[in-house]
Amino acid sequence: MGQLSGQKPAKRARVGRRRALDKDIPVSPENPFDISMAPEVIVPCARDALPKTRRKGKQRALKLAWSDQDAGIWLYEANCLTFLDRVAERWPDGVFDMIFADPPYFLSNGGISCHAGRMVSVDKGDWDKSRGIEENHEFNRAWLERCQRVLKPNGTIWVSGTAHVIHSVGFAMQQLGFKLLNDITWVKPNPPPNLSCRYFTHATETIIWAAKHAKSKHHFDYRRMKKIAGDKQMKSVWEFRPPGRAEKIYGKHPTQKPEALIARIVEASTSKGDLVLDPFAGSGTTAVAAARQDRRVVGVELEPHFVARAAARVKDVLLTKLQRDTGRSARQGRGD
Ligand SMILES: C[S@@+](CC[C@H](N)C(=O)[O-])C[C@H]1O[C@@H](n2cnc3c(N)ncnc32)[C@H](O)[C@@H]1O
Repeated sequence: MGQLSGQKPAKRARVGRRRALDKDIPVSPENPFDISMAPEVIVPCARDALPKTRRKGKQRALKLAWSDQDAGIWLYEANCLTFLDRVAERWPDGVFDMIFADPPYFLSNGGISCHAGRMVSVDKGDWDKSRGIEENHEFNRAWLERCQRVLKPNGTIWVSGTAHVIHSVGFAMQQLGFKLLNDITWVKPNPPPNLSCRYFTHATETIIWAAKHAKSKHHFDYRRMKKIAGDKQMKSVWEFRPPGRAEKIYGKHPTQKPEALIARIVEASTSKGDLVLDPFAGSGTTAVAAARQDRRVVGVELEPHFVARAAARVKDVLLTKLQRDTGRSARQGRGD
């Protein structure tokens, strides 16, 4: 699975590092987390974990859709609640160093917006429809509780959202005993105009950063962040443009995050070789950012067409890295 042609030189160079990294996770190509993926275990579990009105929908079996063992990348087509239950059973003390979650914002309720000068629906898909305040909160608690269980003791989680969801996420985090570290304001320099002219343009999103619990000693690459900020302490206000065409060549995702935004999150809160999780992987932006920076990553996504898009994007990154590594070894061989 996930084999790329001509992989040998880079593969050899990575073997030593991979051996060191794998010591805490006995991975196997088909089931890296050694969790039960039998349908009779998965389906009842998925049904019970979901809020009541969501239990009628399609039941998803857990499926490892794509992986590259050498690079340490695994993409699952699954309900993240099911996946996280399985991981927690197998790894009760936690296994992930960092989680980035971009959950449903519950804003697909028939509204309109403006895109490229045209009036468009804001609806993103069924997965983004609101089920009412209580049930949305129940869902947020359900996945956040599971994320907390699978974080290592010093691990951290980042969750993005707009006002539709972020207050519920923050409240659920407080209820669950996370330690809130920062709330980042992501500023979009080019927001769509507000068609009704009755509100300010929606130009920001919030990203909450929290540690597993009050006693966690979280990782923060202070120096790197200071360097990026021009030798000043970095503020919690970050400006990034939405993803451009180059990030959408394998198809669009309606709520795709810019790679640069997630790259900063990865850099700030992980070290090389750390294991990152994205439970709502979408088009795989977290996997792309993590793979580019030599972090291992697990993405979980319900929709098969988004998983396929994520796999295509990640393969592209690995190929580019491979070409770079091969070019470097050739130059070293020639003594250039
Ligand atoms: C806000 S989008 C994430 C977009 C992603 N950050 C990107 O850059 O492409 C949320 C994604 O979560 C998926 N999703 C919704 N509920 C899910 C669940 N219970 N388990 C796994 N994925 C889910 C949706 O299909 C959607 O693609």
